[in-house]
Amino acid sequence: MKKITAESPILFLDSGLGGLTTLFQTEMLLPQENFIYVADFKNHPYGNKTKKQIESTVIHNIKKFYAQFYPKSVVLACNTATAVAITRLRKMFSNIIIIGTEPAIRPAIEAGKKRILVLGTRATIRHSSLIKLFKANKHSYLEFLALPELAKLVDDNYLDNKSLIDDYLAEKLTPLKDKFDAVVLGCTHYVILKKEIKNFLGDITIFSGNGGVAKRLKQCLTLLNLKNAGKGSLKLISTSSDKQEMLLENHNYLFKRREEICVV
Ligand code: DGL
Repeated sequence: MKKITAESPILFLDSGLGGLTTLFQTEMLLPQENFIYVADFKNHPYGNKTKKQIESTVIHNIKKFYAQFYPKSVVLACNTATAVAITRLRKMFSNIIIIGTEPAIRPAIEAGKKRILVLGTRATIRHSSLIKLFKANKHSYLEFLALPELAKLVDDNYLDNKSLIDDYLAEKLTPLKDKFDAVVLGCTHYVILKKEIKNFLGDITIFSGNGGVAKRLKQCLTLLNLKNAGKGSLKLISTSSDKQEMLLENHNYLFKRREEICVV
């Protein structure tokens, strides 16, 4: 087996475009790392699948891309995969540092927010251990809303047909306007839409798990003496061969920064 070194890449996994927001935040904190981003368009969206389906999809992807790239860490840039599968994954792949993305409920409560709306996929709302933990907390009122169509709408339409996304948000969120002081975006796809979501919900503070992921990853790499000192790179991978261009176009539209990106 190949040796893990500071130069080894960090593997980001999501069902589609959402985890690019996690990657972006991580790159700001760790610009010298070599990143590989896998968008699993072949199996998106994860959020409406069963626990068993999501687990086997993510296990398949970790095995496949681990064997290909020998990353020093795997980041599940996906609340759904984390909520459903992380316990099993950590048992199965005990030699790999796996970082998950979780709904930022604790930071919202700690910031003193009293009426918190938590948005996520169906599977996240059903399985997240954090949601179970904080459901009955005594500091804040929490409401949970699954948006089962939104992740796929983003993957399929963000660049070319955004009005479909706006119509969906209008239908789901307009009745909730001015009812909350915070919204937790418990799906990385929703972070792409943070401006739009804020517009529909009124004066509201937005929380996401992305900052936590970046910080945790940095802590782990520092602790293990595995921080890279090179130039840094990014490779984008789509599991569906007809979506490679679309992945690159969306990446460039959302985060126009890197000169050389390799799409596989
Ligand atoms: N981006 C993902 C999440 O954070 C998954 C969305 C989906 O595929 O349903 O939950």
